[in-house]
Amino acid sequence: MLKLLCATTALAICVCASAAGGQTLPPASSPADAYARGCASCHASEQRILRAIPSLDDEKRAAWIRQFMAGHPCERDDLKPQIEQYLLEKSRR
Ligand code: HEC
Repeated sequence: MLKLLCATTALAICVCASAAGGQTLPPASSPADAYARGCASCHASEQRILRAIPSLDDEKRAAWIRQFMAGHPCERDDLKPQIEQYLLEKSRR
């Protein structure tokens, strides 16, 4: 129970920090950079993320990624469109 509480608190801090930083953060130089800034603090490697993305056509995969990210923490909400692009390209198979 205590463990769960800690995890929830850590997540809340994480999300708040990104919201507060919002507008003054530097832009991403590439989709890969956007991923690094938005997700890599928790996911050093994207391999596991790519495996979790179902093999659908581009349009449906993009929708899946967008919907997943809507309910998932991200360090840089402003970079979500670029992160979506990055994951869409990397998960094409
Ligand atoms: C605050 C930390 C944090 C951030 C930031 C974060 N994630 Fe996660 N993510 C997690 C945790 C924790 C899990 C659960 C993984 C586990 O069970 O080990 C997870 C799981 C996932 C999964 C499911 C993978 C699986 O193993 O089933 C996907 C997909 C994913 N994250 C994508 C992303 C993307 C894309 C971003 C950037 C927009 C992101 N995450 C940013 C913490 C984070």
